[in-house]
Amino acid sequence: MERTLVLLKPDAVQRRLLGRIISRIEEKGLKIVAMKMMKVTRELAERHYAEHKEKPFFGELVSFITSGPIVAMVVEGPKAIETVRKMMGKTDPLEAEPGTIRGDYGLSITMNLIHGSDSEKTAAREIPIFFAEDEILSYDIADSRWLGG
Ligand code: RTP
Ligand code: MG
Repeated sequence: MERTLVLLKPDAVQRRLLGRIISRIEEKGLKIVAMKMMKVTRELAERHYAEHKEKPFFGELVSFITSGPIVAMVVEGPKAIETVRKMMGKTDPLEAEPGTIRGDYGLSITMNLIHGSDSEKTAAREIPIFFAEDEILSYDIADSRWLGG
């Protein structure tokens, strides 16, 4: 079973899209095992997006992700990492297919609504940045045997 870090970015909060995005994750059959609303500090943002430190868009990325509250989640399921990435769509909402979260709700490459870890290694690095081990819950969900979990 895989775990992935999902962030609903400040634009998702401001545009009141949290419920719709969380519903998609639930309806897909994935399991939310940790969730909190929080303000991302500059230090946290720089740690999370460290791989992009040298990129020209790094400043804009950090200032956006720290601009207002976000919702952070750990999402669990079979192939959860790839599944969430597919549901998000491409980074640039203009290239993201309709039917994906970015394809349906986004217009801006910076304000692209959602983050999802892009590999097992990334998920293992990112999850502890946002959650202590005891904030991640282990529980059974009634329909799991119908979802290949
Ligand atoms: P994320 O990390 O937020 O899930 O997004 P991603 O994997 O699809 O894209 P990534 O390459 O990791 O880039 C991180 C975030 O940086 C912003 N970005 N801006 N202006 C640009 O050319 C540009 N390229 C990337 C995006 O907001 C992207 O989500
Ligand atoms: Mg990324």
